[in-house]
Formats: sequence, C-alpha cells, structure tokens
Amino acid sequence: MRQNNYHKLYLKSPKEILQIVASHSKLSQEDNDVYQSPLIQDLGYLTELSENVFSAHLLPLSIVPNFLVNGKERLIPYAIEEPGVVAGAALGAKLCRASGGFSAWADEPLMVGQIVLAGITNPKTARRKFSLHRKRLLQWAIKQNPDLRAKGRYPIDYTTRLVRTKRGKMLSVDVVVKVGNATGCRAVEAYCETMASELARLGGGRIVLKLHTNLADKRITRAKAVWRQDCLGENRQRMPAEELTSLILDLAALAQADPYRASTHNKGIMNGVDALAIATCNDWRIQESAAHAYAARNGRYTPLSEFVVNKKGDLVGTIELPIVMGVEGGIIDVHPYAQLSKKIMNITTARELAQVAASVGLAQNFAALRQLALGGMREADARLREQKSRMVNRTP
Ligand code: MEV
Repeated sequence: MRQNNYHKLYLKSPKEILQIVASHSKLSQEDNDVYQSPLIQDLGYLTELSENVFSAHLLPLSIVPNFLVNGKERLIPYAIEEPGVVAGAALGAKLCRASGGFSAWADEPLMVGQIVLAGITNPKTARRKFSLHRKRLLQWAIKQNPDLRAKGRYPIDYTTRLVRTKRGKMLSVDVVVKVGNATGCRAVEAYCETMASELARLGGGRIVLKLHTNLADKRITRAKAVWRQDCLGENRQRMPAEELTSLILDLAALAQADPYRASTHNKGIMNGVDALAIATCNDWRIQESAAHAYAARNGRYTPLSEFVVNKKGDLVGTIELPIVMGVEGGIIDVHPYAQLSKKIMNITTARELAQVAASVGLAQNFAALRQLALGGMREADARLREQKSRMVNRTP
C-alpha cells in the first residue's frame, strides 16, 4: 500500500496535525492563527471526543427567550448560524404566551434495536422459538449488562418481522429497550450484541445486523399551541389576522398534500430541533434521520405538524415527531456546554428535553409559515440585518 504523510494521524497532537494540514494545503500563518484562536486553545476534552482533531468548529450560540412549556418558563440555547431562525422561534413562542404557551407530551424514552438474521430455513419455527424464549433471553441479556441495568437502560420486549429482500427473506427481531435519560444507541447496541448469537443459535441463519434503528417510533413527542387571532403579531404589511390565518392554513394544507412542500416545511421545524440538539451536544443527525423516517412512515412523505382553526377562529398548531435526545451518557457527560445547556433550561430528564424540543419545532414552524404568509423570508432577513447593523454602529 502506498504510504502518505497522514499515517496514524490519531496518534498526533492537534498542533502536529495542524502543521501537517498547513503544510499540505499551504496555509499562511494567518490561516493557522484562525485555527488556534484563544477561544479554542484548550482542546482538552474535544480531542477525547473525536479522531485527528486539530481545532474546533465554532457556531454562534444564541438564547431564545419566551418559551412557556407546560407552564414553565424556559430559556433555550440554540447553536445555529441563521439569525432568522433564532428570531423566528422567539416570536413564535412569544405570540402563543397569551394562550398559555406550549403543552407537550413525551413518550417514555424507548429505543428499538434490530437483530436481523438471514438464511433461516424455517422462519415460522424460528419465530415460534424466539417467542417461546423471550422472557428467558431478555432476563439473561439484562444480567450480562449490569452497568446498563444500573443506569435504567434495559430491554423490555421484542417482536419479530419478516423482511423480504432481494437476497431472500430476513427475520428482524425488534428489541424494545428502556434508555432512561440517555439517547440510548450504545445501550441498544450492547443488548443486541448480547442477544444476537443466542437468537442465531435458536433460529439458525447468519447474523446480518445488530444495531438500533433511527425510526424511533416508540419515542414520540407531541406539542400543541394556540395562536389567538389578536396575537398574531403586528406586521408591516398590515395584513388582517383572518387573512394571515387563512394563508397559514393554505400553507399547512399544501404541505399535507405535496411532498415537495412538506420537505421544506419539515426543514423549518428541524431548524429549531437541530439548533437545540447541537447546543445540548445531542447527535443532530439522529434527529434528522428519525424525523424524516417518521414523516415517511406510511409510504408517503408528510409534514410533522398540522394547523387548524378552533371555534373562536384561533390558530391551533400541533406537532408529532420522534425526539432522540438525552441528558446523560457519551459526550453529554464530558462536554461542559452540554451541562450548561441543561442548567440554562433547568432540565434534568430526557423527557423534559423532548417536550422542549417539540415545542421549539412547532414555534419555528409557525414563525416560518407566518413569515411566508406575510410575503417571504427575504424581507425578514433584510429587516434583521438592518437591525443588527444599527446595533453594531451604536456599540462603542
Ligand atoms: C428556512 O431555513 C426554513 C423555511 O424554508 C421553512 C419553511 O419554508 O417552512 C423558511
């Protein structure tokens, strides 16, 4: 194999890696200084978190005010580079305060792991055996993982599904795991690994997969808010509330009927969910994968939220999506920002965090639809930039 200079980068220090990058890519001293800004001098814990680390990537960290979630006032940290997103969430949350803010409900955090076996000669018999041995196998797996059990992460059940693939039938054993306050992927993987060989012994066949699924449909969170007619916010366009409500309903109906629109509609929701996920050091790729898989669970891509009007003519928004966020485990235990984000929000459980995340998604979505109804995002962005430049000019 042809060797290059990048062999075993993971054994080198951030400074050494930066030197290699700088020499390969002909970075100037000025470029180098960017990567060594005083803000990121102490890479300590970051080098532990990944491989080949030579610097840190900074995003603006903002605070979003105005969130009343289940009657509690929450300040929300957002890590995102779009000013309109931060302003939008704050506005969406402010305008529903008169009707009590957000009501939110989160399932107990349960994740599903897949143990998939292929080449089983008699799937029917295998399924029967799996069902017969369920209790014993689950108890045995829990015993093999005492550390996880102590943290409240353990499997409670499994079911089997026959999956027809182009390489023949496969049997997926879907293991439901309580994950407590963690995201839970590692716990699920550990239990799947423990149980896979025993299932293969019972049912025959070869093990194809032992991993969590991101279609986290046992970890659903719902939120609801009412935006009163008289609380839809002043607008420069002087659009009357009924007209604004009606246009928001048009947009929501369009998203229901048209996957092209639904994908952008859901992106607006995920603007907020991801910004919160990053600020709390949760894996935002899982939120994306889980949300979009859930949006398409019935074979057609649909919006994650819905808007209707109640008898008084007020706008009622609801959202339903999987939130796969934890407040402990992995990077969350190590990264000081994760700890501080929990403190800022006054959150101690994964369920509370999920309720806030769904509320954030709904506020963000409402704000985007409202702005689109008022004529588009460019006008709002321009207004924000104008405000910002006035502020910067004022700052001594
Ligand atoms: C932009 O980041 C998000 C929006 O496109 C969402 C939407 O269209 O609903 C404005």
